[in-house]
Amino acid sequence: MKNVVLAGFMGTGKTEVGRELARLLDMKLIDLDAELERSQKMTIKEIFKQSGEPGFREIETEIIKKISENKNIIISTGGGAVLKQENMDIFRKNGIIVCLTAAPETILKRTSNNTERPLLQVENPLEKIKELLDFRKPFYEKADVMLDTEGKTPLQIAEEIIEKIRNSKHPLTLTLSRKGRGD
Ligand code: S3P
Repeated sequence: MKNVVLAGFMGTGKTEVGRELARLLDMKLIDLDAELERSQKMTIKEIFKQSGEPGFREIETEIIKKISENKNIIISTGGGAVLKQENMDIFRKNGIIVCLTAAPETILKRTSNNTERPLLQVENPLEKIKELLDFRKPFYEKADVMLDTEGKTPLQIAEEIIEKIRNSKHPLTLTLSRKGRGD
């Protein structure tokens, strides 16, 4: 049984959708940002401040290597994890990569109430979101499955992911938990 890797820009709902998927499939969810903070005993904001984005990306790859040794888990990634081909190769070796998408305005709404994302602490976050999305588009499109989250609940998205994985060219044997079957 392979891993399900949730990728996508900040604010596309990776963690919430991951929780629903974990519940429906009875799989463990590992959030890479949370693991990273635990391992460094620092918040992401502090890591960016101390080591900058390049330092953060190095630690991110170390955590990805460690976590991806597991099987049968759901991995919720940080929005920039797709940027390194090395990370994508590690994810793909053991898993299927699902990328969540949303419109820039939706991302702004979902991210504007917290100051924990260093890349969005700028004067015009909407502009920044659009700029980063433009640059990252080809990286996100390397995922095995793309899924638009607009107007959908985390549960609907999780159900759609299960459907899409079953119909993809990389089908996994996904077994719904009793909760997922509605028993
Ligand atoms: C980042 C996304 C964040 C976190 C860091 C950098 C990015 O994760 O890893 O702030 O480069 O897009 P979320 O996507 O979970 O917010």
